[in-house]
Amino acid sequence: MTLIDGKAISAKVKEEVKIAAAGLSAKGVTPGLAVILVGEDKASATYVASKEKACVACGINSYPYHLSAQTAETALLELIDELNADENVDGILVQLPLPKHIDTNKILEKIDPSKDVDGFHAVNVGRLVSGLEAFVPCTPLGIMRLLAEYGIATNGANAVVIGRSNIVGKPMANLLLNANSTVTITHSRTKNLAEICSQADILVAAIGKPNFVTPDMVKDGAVVIDVGINRLENGKLTGDVDFDAVAPKCSFITPVPGGVGPMTIAMLLQNTITSARNRLKRSK
Ligand code: GUN
Repeated sequence: MTLIDGKAISAKVKEEVKIAAAGLSAKGVTPGLAVILVGEDKASATYVASKEKACVACGINSYPYHLSAQTAETALLELIDELNADENVDGILVQLPLPKHIDTNKILEKIDPSKDVDGFHAVNVGRLVSGLEAFVPCTPLGIMRLLAEYGIATNGANAVVIGRSNIVGKPMANLLLNANSTVTITHSRTKNLAEICSQADILVAAIGKPNFVTPDMVKDGAVVIDVGINRLENGKLTGDVDFDAVAPKCSFITPVPGGVGPMTIAMLLQNTITSARNRLKRSK
């Protein structure tokens, strides 16, 4: 069994980002990322702080907007309009979830698709599904990078994704399909879930239920990717996979923490670099 080291690979991506950011800056295009946080959700505030810190560490300008939970939807739409028009902003990220009085889809659709470094805009979703160049959501993009780094073949593989969210499950399935896997998406209503999972060469768990994946759901020699970040009552972080029980059956497995988690921010930075490169091309 090989442990997939997301911390090491994310550090490698960040080094690539640093070099690219310096090169772009030297040409007068310093990459910039606007990060919008609405409200005081603690987990979101922690994620956003990490994103802002990572930008600065890699030579990307960070433009933080921390707005109150009472912010009107119209005010948020206006801010996005301003950022869409701002030359120095290559990426716009609106941290989710948003407060209930704000229509998330309306906000995400307001972001210029060319600055949509989260890959949540319908234009980028459609481009991904069509196999066109697109901004791809950071967590599944990071998982594809982990598979590539460890030489894990997707071609012809049976891939099973547990979870159908717009942020992970659906884009993950499309990326694996584009990479020639035979993909099954499963979710809370799926019948015979354990049996379907046990057929997987690559099993991606993104359901948000601690220790959901047990050894009976895993084929001998499978690659298991754990997207879950669940905080237990004792304060410990645990994934969606019962790691200790499942790991001995796997050829590769990601730990929590230190597996998929660190890749999300690294790929956000990479997407911001891509957007800045596009800005440079447009300016020529
Ligand atoms: N909330 C949980 N994951 C994400 C993410 O990848 N991007 C944004 N914007 N919000 C999130």
